[in-house]
Amino acid sequence: MSASTPTPPSPRADERQTVTLHGFAHGGEAVGRLDDGRAVFVAHGIPGETVRVRIIAEHKRWCRGELLEVVSASHDRVQPPCPYFGPGQCGGCRLQHIATDRRLALLRQVVVDQLERLGRISNPVVAETVSAGHYGYRTRARFAVTDRGALAFRRHGSHDLIAVDRCLLLDDRTQLLREAAGDDWAGREEVEVRTAAHGVTVVVDPAGRPTVALGERVLAETVDGLTFRVSATSFFQSNRAGAMTLLRLVRSYARCAPGDTALDLYAGVGLFAAGLAADGAAVTAVESHPSSVSDARYNLRARGDVLAAPVATALGQFQREDRRFDVVVLDPPRRGAGESVISGVAAVARRSVVVVACDAATLGRDAATLQAHGWSLREAVPVDQFAQTGHVEVVACFERLA
Ligand SMILES: C[S@@+](CC[C@H](N)C(=O)[O-])C[C@H]1O[C@@H](n2cnc3c(N)ncnc32)[C@H](O)[C@@H]1O
Repeated sequence: MSASTPTPPSPRADERQTVTLHGFAHGGEAVGRLDDGRAVFVAHGIPGETVRVRIIAEHKRWCRGELLEVVSASHDRVQPPCPYFGPGQCGGCRLQHIATDRRLALLRQVVVDQLERLGRISNPVVAETVSAGHYGYRTRARFAVTDRGALAFRRHGSHDLIAVDRCLLLDDRTQLLREAAGDDWAGREEVEVRTAAHGVTVVVDPAGRPTVALGERVLAETVDGLTFRVSATSFFQSNRAGAMTLLRLVRSYARCAPGDTALDLYAGVGLFAAGLAADGAAVTAVESHPSSVSDARYNLRARGDVLAAPVATALGQFQREDRRFDVVVLDPPRRGAGESVISGVAAVARRSVVVVACDAATLGRDAATLQAHGWSLREAVPVDQFAQTGHVEVVACFERLA
């Protein structure tokens, strides 16, 4: 900018501006540029649209804008089916205003961007996004509780609550269970409703001192012909079609056969370990949550070992013992595995590393570490198993650089 060019005034919180949206960010917001060159993130927008926004948060390099009006709409804009969707409303969904094909393409682009920017991988091979249902797919939902005891979600961009009696993401049985749970939970922090192939459960304060308030303590789930015991307090994928897609992708990348050894890290109740064992591998599963450990032991029985330990501890042990595995699968929580775990994985894996990630940015960071240790990305597949929410799951296969 030359010295004679007037500097545009800095927008202040609450100021209105008209912006053209050109990008789509990790997390599901569209991105435009303000007059002063700063990026502005706009939920409920679509790249290509011109929108009027109110600045609701201001940082040195970027701002966040609330959508006030769509001045020029994208052809991909659709009517959101949920009455709770939109600016200032329920924060659970972010993408109901986007047509399905465009949503899947945007999610794929997020994965490409994160692998390029954070993973420092040029032209990563990223497949088309695989759908796992658009609405009515969730078998588990965690609600906050209003002062009056109603089940609620957080409002968009806020800690405030919005009571939600019907969530279109829930499958029919889970919605019925939510209705049966009612709105009389005053004094409780959170309530989780969950259904499985066999059994339903309502767990109070699942993240603190979980107690089963309704339904069963132990559920049974079936994925691709494999049956799993799942305690009410154990993790299980919240989208059944998604779980099947993930399992099939993991098995196809792992290419396990009798004689192979496989390591399943962050194993939960043993979803991937059971699949790899069914393909003939000798499987070791690592999990630290007590009820998941006990479910995994039951689910794998004679078919695999379960180590009850933090992943970092288990990897340290394997390295001291000089133990190697043909295939390592890891499915860490949203924060990712992190550098030290990935270094351990790179050291113990022989043939392939399959990462299942529920956050494209942490996958990008973990991919950079894997690459630094001599592993290259063969292919990543985005799976839309949290449809409408702005989150995307990814299965990524890495192989040793030749
Ligand atoms: C995203 S879930 C994946 C579970 C399983 N792979 C599945 O698909 O059902 C992550 C799992 O990692 C476990 N976990 C979280 N941090 C861990 C750690 N540091 N060490 C071992 N397990 C951990 C959690 O208890 C949870 O079961």
